[in-house]
Parts: sequence; C-alpha cells; structure tokens
Amino acid sequence: MDELISELSLEEKVSLLGGQDFWSLPEIARIGLRSLVMSDGPVGVRGTGWAPEDPSVALPSPTALAATWDPELVERAGRLLGQESRRKGVHLLLAPTVNLHRTPLNGRHFECFSEDPLLTGEIAAAFVTGVQALGVGTTVKHLVGNDFETERMTVDVRISERALREVYLPPFERVVRAGGWGVMSAYNGVNGSPMSSHAELQQRVLKDEWGFDGIVVSDWRAARDTVGAALGGLDIAMPAMQNPWGEALVEAVRAGLVPEEEIDAKVRRVLRLAARVGALGPPPSGEWPELDGSAVAHEVAARSFVLVRNEDFTLPLEPAALTRVAVIGALALDARVLGGGSATVTPPHVISPLEGIGRSLSGVDVAYATGADPRPFLPPARGPEWTGLRVDLAGKYDFAVGEAALRWIGDLPGRLDPADVDGLTIAGTFTPAVDGEHVFAVSGFGTFVLTVGEREVYRGALHVEGTERGELLLSPREHRAAVTLAAGVPVEVILTQIIPAGMAHTVSTTLGHRPPGPDAAEMITEAAALAAGSDVAIVVVGTTEQVESEGFDRTSLALPGTQDELVRRVAAANPRTVVVVNAGAPVLLPWADDVAAVVLTWFPGQEAGAALADVLLGVLEPGGRLPTTWPRRAEDCPVLDVTPQGGVVSYDEGVFVGYRAWQRASREPHYAFGHGLGYTTWSYEALRVVDGTAEITVTNTGAREGREVIQVYVRPAAPDDERPAEWLAGFATVTAHPDESVTARVDLPERTFQTWADGGWHTVAGDYEIVAAHALDDPRLVVSLTVGA
Ligand code: BGC
Repeated sequence: MDELISELSLEEKVSLLGGQDFWSLPEIARIGLRSLVMSDGPVGVRGTGWAPEDPSVALPSPTALAATWDPELVERAGRLLGQESRRKGVHLLLAPTVNLHRTPLNGRHFECFSEDPLLTGEIAAAFVTGVQALGVGTTVKHLVGNDFETERMTVDVRISERALREVYLPPFERVVRAGGWGVMSAYNGVNGSPMSSHAELQQRVLKDEWGFDGIVVSDWRAARDTVGAALGGLDIAMPAMQNPWGEALVEAVRAGLVPEEEIDAKVRRVLRLAARVGALGPPPSGEWPELDGSAVAHEVAARSFVLVRNEDFTLPLEPAALTRVAVIGALALDARVLGGGSATVTPPHVISPLEGIGRSLSGVDVAYATGADPRPFLPPARGPEWTGLRVDLAGKYDFAVGEAALRWIGDLPGRLDPADVDGLTIAGTFTPAVDGEHVFAVSGFGTFVLTVGEREVYRGALHVEGTERGELLLSPREHRAAVTLAAGVPVEVILTQIIPAGMAHTVSTTLGHRPPGPDAAEMITEAAALAAGSDVAIVVVGTTEQVESEGFDRTSLALPGTQDELVRRVAAANPRTVVVVNAGAPVLLPWADDVAAVVLTWFPGQEAGAALADVLLGVLEPGGRLPTTWPRRAEDCPVLDVTPQGGVVSYDEGVFVGYRAWQRASREPHYAFGHGLGYTTWSYEALRVVDGTAEITVTNTGAREGREVIQVYVRPAAPDDERPAEWLAGFATVTAHPDESVTARVDLPERTFQTWADGGWHTVAGDYEIVAAHALDDPRLVVSLTVGA
C-alpha cells in the first residue's frame, strides 16, 4: 500500500479524501483504483440516485430491527443490504445508525435502534457483519451525541466522560470490535469541539485506543474546518459541495499546517477500504446465496411487531369465525413504511395493511373506511382514475411513474447531466370517478405551474428565500387548488417545475390529489358505523412525514389529527377493536386500555400489510419486544427536551438514559422496556451462573410453537445513587414446541460489572442479582452472584 501511496502526488492524495460529487471518491486508474461509491442507508440501498426506475428493497425501520432482539435475523437483513449494494454498484453503505433513544422527541428516533447501549451494539454488530460479508463496507453513525435534530449542524452536546464511555460510545466500540470498516462522524459538537474535528474521540479513542483501522467519513457538509478536520482524525470529507479540503488542504500541507504523513495515513485508510470492497485490486470473491428481498423484509417485519396488549386473546383472529372485518384509517390504505430524510428509498412495491388483510381473508367481507387522515399534505396522484402518468425531464428523458411523486439527490433519472435539466413535467390523464370539488396540490420547492384541463390553477414559487436546498428537502411546502370536475370526463393534468441552473441534482416534487369526500366528523361517524356492523375492527393509526423525519424533532408525542377520537369512537362501537400503530417512535395511546389489542408495527417496510395479516391471523407470532420504554404521558419522560440553550444541550442525566432514568425517577411507563406478548406462554424453570455465563431453562407452556426473547438483567444487591438500579446484561432468543424445554446461555463479560472512572474501566466488586426476565417489568428468576475486584 505504501508503494502505491508513494506513486501519488500530494494533489492526487488529497483528491482521495473528498467527494468528487455527492456520493463518490475519484478514481486513479494509474494505480488501479476505481471510484468508491457510497450510498444511504439503514433500511435499503438507494444507490447514487433516487430514481423510481431503479427501486430498492425497503426493510422495516432500524427500531424494528432492534425490536426483533435477534442478531441472527439482523445479520441476514445486513446480507440482503450487502446484496442490494453490490447490485447497485455501491461499495460503502451509510449505515447503521447507533445514536440512542435518549428522548422520544428525536426526529430520527425511528432510525436508531434502542435506548439501551448493549442491545444497540449487538444489533449494530450483526448488521455490519451481514453487510460486510458481501465485501461491502459500512459506516456506523453518527459519532457521537447526534441523539436529536434541533440545530444539529451547530449544537454542542455536553456529555460527561462516564456517560460517553458507558452509554453513548459502547455501540460504536462494539461495531469496531466486530470489524466495522467505517465510521461517520456527526454534525454536532461534543464538549466544545465539532465532531468532524474531534481529535480526542476520533483519533485517540477510536483509532489509537480501540485500534480502528477503517475510515472516518464526515456527515454530509459537516466538515467545515480545513486544518481542524485534517488533524482531528477525519479521513474523508463529503460531499464535493462546500468541501473544506481539496485545494485548501493541499495549501495547508504546503504551509506546514498539516504534516504530509497525516495525509498519507488517511490515504492508507482509504486504499485499505478500497481493497476491502473491491475498488482496488480484485473484486471481493465468495459464494453468496441469493436472498429474496421480499421474504427477508416480510420476516423482519413480523418479528419486529410488538403486541403490547391482547385482552382475552383477541389475537390471533380465527378466519373461519369472521364474516365481516372493518379496516379503518388512512394509513391502512397508505401505510408509512419508512421514515423520512436520508433513510428514504423507493421500494419496488408496498403492500398496504388493507391489501394484506384482504388477500389473506378471501371469502370474508373486508370493508374499508378512512375514518381519519392525519397527513397534512395530499397523497400523490395515483390509482385507477389516473392513466398515462409520465415524467419528462427537460425534453431529454421521459419515463412512466405509478404515482406522481419524484425525489432524488445526486444522479438524475436517465443519468442526465444536471446542467442540462432546467425543468420537469409530471403529466397524466385524470378521469374522475365522482362529480364535485377535486383538490390538487403541488409540493416541493422551485417554481411551478399547474394546469387542470384548460385552466391554470397555480403559478408560483414554494420556497423561502435563503433556505438551503438540502434543508428544503426535509421541510417541503404545499399549495392546493380546488377544481370542480364531472365524473367520467377526462382532463389532462400537467405540473411543470422550473429548476434554477445547476440545481437539478436535488428534486422533491409531488402532484397531490384528493377527491370530494366527507369532512373529518363525517369520516369518523362513517368508520364507527362500519365497525359496529363488523366482527372485528382493525384501526391503523400513526405519524406522518411532517411530524416524524430527519432534519427536525417532534414537538408532541400525540398522534396527529383526529386519530385518537377515531379510535375511541370505533372502540365504543365494537369491543373487538384491534389498533395497529404505524409510527417509528413512541406515540401516546390514551385509549389503549379500552381496546382489545394493540400492535406496534414501527415503519414496517415494503411487505407491511402481508406481515401484518400473518401476525393478526396467527400464521406468524408477533415476535417483537420493546427496544425502548413507551411512555403513557409525555410529561412522565425523564428526558424529553431537545431544545438547545445558547447552542448547547447538556446531557445532565449522565448515564441515566431510557429505563435507567425511568427507574431512578420511580415512574411507571405505559409499556416497559423489553415488553411484548406472543401467542404462547413460557415458564422460566431454572437459572444458574456458571463461569461467567447465565444458563436459563424455559418451557413452552402454551398450545403452539413460539419464540421467546430471554432477557438477562443485572442489579447491584445494594443499590446506590451512582449506578442504575439494573441494566440489560445480555439476551438470547429461543423457539420451542408446546411442552418443550430449552436452555439458553448468555455471557456476562467483565464489562457488565464495570464503570468508567479516572480514565479507565473499574470492576465494582460486590453482590449482584442476576435476573432472567420476560421483560424489565416481568422478572421470572433471580440468583445472587458475588463479583470480586
Ligand atoms: C445524514 C446522514 C446521511 C447523509 C447522506 C446526512 O444528512 O445525517 O445520515 O448518511 O446525509 O445522505
């Protein structure tokens, strides 16, 4: 490698440390180095464009992966993403996200695994192992303290050294131990230094102490300081735009501000990564069995669903006993299957809850009512009333679309040069099914003209002067226009967008439509009437992209719109009401104790409805357990606020995050960490600790095969104020037939009993209780253990 480096000029070396565009590093053919391509992200592999012509398998959101508590399954999910990366020519996947669920208001909560560092680390390590098994790199992100979004580019997060070491860094450390090839540094600062220049954490801890030999890449546009970042342990600054390196770094080296050896060390890491992922030398070889993306997405989804309430065994439903099933909620028709922001991909298809349930219940009357629609923006034009929906890019490339929504950053459809594209058109023929006032909507940014038939119904600009395009992507606006149309009479609908010169690499445009229909109160009444006449009512409620997404934090944990009232009215009309929660993060469920069953489904990925039908009908067990504490009321959350004060957020709670904080505050959550019901019952028979390993024997005492997540917690026998009352030490999943007993083993490594003090790890000697539990609030067996110094 050093020989290759010695063949490169300083300019060439520096060119390898910065993006040549949004997503890739330059090639240097002379030394056999091909361009190294990166892509988001955690639920699927977008590739260098977001074009609808090149869809990506969409897995359930990362919190759902963690809710499986199943590293073996998550590794398989990782392999699938490795396979997708190879298919799309991607060498480095910008995932997984291991920031913690410190507060449920975090806009990217859905993209993080858990509130617990051990569970987060185990799931992340499995994910990384899976992706990298196919010779594709990963970047565990965002190092560190990016646990909320408000002022994320500039905020300084104050975290004590102990909390960093015991809570926020362990997931990164675990991934490094598992052999991760990349780390992404965060936008925010920590304890006074921007993370992309943080020599203490990136160089001393990550590289020197943990022995990390991969690359540290900046978050996109996070690196802003030429010399600081170069000396601060960063290896690659992304993307090309607003990059502080390039020419400026060459000059800094020439001026003696950055030693050339520092550049060589970074280039060595880049070349090592390139060799690992097949961008230098021979491509990675190996036999990888082809995974079926839909099958993996389906399995992960069902395993991640958490059944938090199931009165009188309402679930699973018995199809033979059903005549009429009511499916209710806008999200039942148009589920939110993935979270917003950089984690977004375009799936090849989405199976909605209504479709999934309908398909699985042939012979049963499955009837639908909207009930409530929480989406503040109109859904994209699609469906049988629309024909010939097409997109035309400046007369240079056109393609058909299934729905009138476009979104990309980077490569354009047809690989057009952004410089050649000064506008686009979305057009189709709309033949209304009903007479009346149809509402059309334009959302996105730029200047638009919308015509319906002969009429121009909107002409204007939908952006605020001075806002950066990247930020606009995360906070789009919408304009609506109502047009009275006659049923059966087709009209041409044309949306034209004018794109300023050179800006066509970032597009997010939707032509929305809503037919005439009942108002909010009438919709609820209709849904309640439908529920009253059905054997069972399945109501799907959840969040929207406008309340839960990257780029901003939530301001409320309540379900948006009239969904709470809808559930109350439906439950009053039918005692057999099953509520399906389609949200990436905790939401308040004020009616939960009054409905028959509640299933949390996160953002369930492309197979959403199929997995849901299987779980509701008992084909599969809802396998999930809560990876995060679920509050009853926002004000109960021990850590909630995400608003910086003078540019600073202080993690004053120290190591007391998640259930550790709930226990310290003696507060009862709605659903405890680890909670989740299956379709069978378990008896915990025996627990012993042998040579640092807990052995737990459980018996399936129910009537069907099942899967149990055995959780092992540790409690100091003599609690003190310094340490949490208990913490997760490990877990194992087992499956067993009725009456079958199985024994699981959970290692209790030294770190279980250690705290960080005075710059090092110290074992806290003394007596502990080792607890085998179904959930944090459902301990089953306890043994004592004395730990020596
Ligand atoms: C996000 C990263 C992402 C990057 C590239 C940033 O805004 O924070 O997680 O990988 O964009 O899309």
